Amino acid sequence: MESSLEIAVSPATNPVEPDRLAEILAAPGFGQHFTDHMFAAEWTPEGGWHDARVTAYAPLSLDPATAVLHYAQEIFEGLKAYRHGDGSVWTFRPEENGARMVRSARRMALPELPAADFVASVDALIRADERWVPDPDGEKSLYIRPFMFASETFLGVRPSRHVTYLVIASPAGAYFAKGPKPVSIWLSEEYSRAGVGGTGAAKTGGNYASSLAAQQEAIDNGCDQVAFLDTVERRWIEELGGMNLYFVHDDGTVVTPELSGTILEGITRSSIVELCGKLGHRVEERQFSVEEWRDGVRSGRITEVFACGTAAVVTPVGTLKWRGGEVAGATEEAGPVTSKIRRTLVDIQYGRAEDTFGWMHRVV
Ligand SMILES: Cc1ncc(COP(=O)(O)O)c(C=O)c1O
Repeated sequence: MESSLEIAVSPATNPVEPDRLAEILAAPGFGQHFTDHMFAAEWTPEGGWHDARVTAYAPLSLDPATAVLHYAQEIFEGLKAYRHGDGSVWTFRPEENGARMVRSARRMALPELPAADFVASVDALIRADERWVPDPDGEKSLYIRPFMFASETFLGVRPSRHVTYLVIASPAGAYFAKGPKPVSIWLSEEYSRAGVGGTGAAKTGGNYASSLAAQQEAIDNGCDQVAFLDTVERRWIEELGGMNLYFVHDDGTVVTPELSGTILEGITRSSIVELCGKLGHRVEERQFSVEEWRDGVRSGRITEVFACGTAAVVTPVGTLKWRGGEVAGATEEAGPVTSKIRRTLVDIQYGRAEDTFGWMHRVV
């Protein structure tokens, strides 16, 4: 489907100087620097989506009674633009992010932005800020953050009648400076992330706000990331604070927790389901318990554990710790299946391998 959004473009009058830009792109970090422009559009019940524009990146001026500041009616997305060796710029399955944003909007009573308009908005911002897309060395990219929030000024619990949609972008460096290193995981037994009928499958800020105390507990216990359990039986593995999980078995089968409505349907996760089929691994999407994780690693039946998401693509998982115990990682480094999946995905994203799935979308 084609986008019908009419996008007005007003170039920034004060763009970052080329020397400063080169300095930023040499070591961008993550989420530290923002490009010269942003995309914006407004929604009202009467006018639908309107006033779509690419304009200079600038602070927002919000009334203290702006609804999102009180009731958190907000959703967001995250994807990346990759520069290929020939200078062209591509995104990875952006229509999937657009479709997920529609599902998040439904759950959070926000207006739906058609996926084609989502892709058009991301493309428009990348074209305006093309010089901010780093060269591909060291897996650098331009991280894109589309988001939508209740921008009506009122106090009261009802869906906002004014919604603002913005897209901003930030250059991102290699997630791992020295190659993928296993992350250690804290099992959150006290806090949960999402319950049945809740907002776990939506990409909404509140899910992340409620995960912070658990993430802090992970750090206090010497771990990098937190893993959440289901809220009913407190034994089924759901996901990490910002990544989905995969368990590789000694017969080559890979298992990932099923989409129960309480975890985020990661685009990396679903790409890996397809990729594993092609690489000859049997994939099981099913309930996976914490005992199965502990026992499987101890017995050697689980040979590798990894997490996946847009930011790091694929991250090996090491030690699992909980109050009163721990089980060491299945591998010291990224295992062979983890490495193969990571390399295959990254090569497709950077145009170094043929995109037989039709996942890449050319922007420039
Ligand atoms: C809670 C959560 N789970 C999983 C993911 C992975 O999703 P994706 O592969 O679409 O980046 C993310 C990251 O967006 C996330 O925030």
